[in-house]
Amino acid sequence: MSRLRQTAAWQALEGHRVELDDTHLRELFAADPDRAKRLTLEVAGIHADLSKNLVTAETLELLLALARETGVAERREAMFRGERVNPTEDRPALHTALRMPRGESLVVDGVDLVAEVHEVLDRMAGFCRSVRSGAWLGHSGRPIRNVIHIGIGGSDLGPVMAYEALRHRASRELRIRFVSNVDGTDFSESVRDLDPAETLVIVSSKTFTTLETMANAGAARRWLLDSAGAEEAAVARHFVAISTNADEVAGFGIDTENRFGFWDWVGGRYSLDSAVGLSTMLAVGPEAFGELLAGMHELDLHFREAPAERNLPLLMGLLAVWYGDFLGAQTAAVLPYEQYLHRFPAYLQQLSMESNGKRVTLAGEPVEYQTAAILWGEPGTNGQHSFFQLLHQGTQPFPCDFIGFLETANPVGDQHDLLLANLFAQTEALAFGKTAEEIRAEGIPERLVAQQTFPGNRPSTTLLGHRLDPRTLGALIALYEHSVFTQAAVWQINPFDQWGVELGKQLAKRIAAELTAEQEPELSHDASTNRLIALRRQARQAGGSAAGRSR
Ligand code: F6P
Repeated sequence: MSRLRQTAAWQALEGHRVELDDTHLRELFAADPDRAKRLTLEVAGIHADLSKNLVTAETLELLLALARETGVAERREAMFRGERVNPTEDRPALHTALRMPRGESLVVDGVDLVAEVHEVLDRMAGFCRSVRSGAWLGHSGRPIRNVIHIGIGGSDLGPVMAYEALRHRASRELRIRFVSNVDGTDFSESVRDLDPAETLVIVSSKTFTTLETMANAGAARRWLLDSAGAEEAAVARHFVAISTNADEVAGFGIDTENRFGFWDWVGGRYSLDSAVGLSTMLAVGPEAFGELLAGMHELDLHFREAPAERNLPLLMGLLAVWYGDFLGAQTAAVLPYEQYLHRFPAYLQQLSMESNGKRVTLAGEPVEYQTAAILWGEPGTNGQHSFFQLLHQGTQPFPCDFIGFLETANPVGDQHDLLLANLFAQTEALAFGKTAEEIRAEGIPERLVAQQTFPGNRPSTTLLGHRLDPRTLGALIALYEHSVFTQAAVWQINPFDQWGVELGKQLAKRIAAELTAEQEPELSHDASTNRLIALRRQARQAGGSAAGRSR
């Protein structure tokens, strides 16, 4: 393929952007009374209103032409079929197989992956039923009341997000906590008030070698074995592992019966729907977990089969390309007006930025355009009282996704209407603003007119579900997964590897050895890093002598 910026569609979009420069959303809505209807899609129970985006019918046609010219549909098919779409790690990316219904089949290299997936799901369901019913007993014969899920990145963010999102459906009998940070505070605070005899530890790590996870798993093991009456055999009653690495799991001392496996074709940030979702299943039960998978699958089918001009993840991905590469937006916000989704932006940060924060193409050539935007967000209405000022009157417009639900699990007076009123109001204010004339007409003194003017023309997408149930959550997750995939396909990058995390890991390993060395190490970093290391070594030595003095 010719270089992306030289494609006919890209060039046409460049010209179109210039033509559109002076067009305001006010004019676009005034000129087309059907705009909201025309640009709204109903997909998998999600009412997706794209009408407040800075696009015309022509913009969308040109973006769809860009998708055609860059082969998005072909890459999508290759992914679904199980081709090796992750060439740098030489593997497929088949998270979509994790949610295919029982009885369907996807044969890759002679193996029916769907049958294998359901075999693990069935084992997970059996285990969860046993723990939830109280049949699974700890080493001293007591049932499990607490679950500590240890993992980081994709082995943590999906499970935390889903647990928080579905808390209203979760068993209140089980206390579920998540430990990810290598900062010992995370582990200590999480177990402070728990009894090891009633606690199940899930160690979740695809590789089972990740520094943070193995450090916390070791701490948890010591915590269990230091408790009264616990001997080595207790580990089998209190530890389960989720990993592709059977040898490391066995090496850690976890019974292989208690390992829930998955496959190298599941990327960490795409793994919630694999065994990595065990804590979610423990919380909400196997049936609700099945609904989550069904919602994802419904969105998969939509992405694969819906016509391009009504294909929601495709359009959302193309809009992200439009804002980043043609309108200069370096950032994008996701703003859930639903407290249960408070970890959704953090989850999406890994999904989007670890997938598409890339500077070379699949062919290893430097990209000549912007790739992933910096994604961030906080729940509404809280954000309105902090950073929304910049959304409305800052110098840089960027797209915002507003996510809400028509019904709430927690009706308190008329607060749900207040919540939705705020969501709708924000999208209206961002799009249409308030002109200087309107301000003057309110009798505002001239010296304040500029301060109080809202330019508007700030783009947003509204995603409204009926209520936040497992199925809708599944659909939302898959929606963003496929939007991220679409962006990567246009940009000709690999969204399934993450080499950019490696250098920091290597250096940390070396520096950790230098921080803890008995003998003064020969430091050969830059002057700044050498000084930082020296400071910590001094503090360690001083702490050691202080501890010695206090004994
Ligand atoms: O450091 C990044 C990363 O490799 C992520 O891609 C991954 O989700 C996370 O670390 C955890 O990896 P693992 O599941 O192997 O512990």
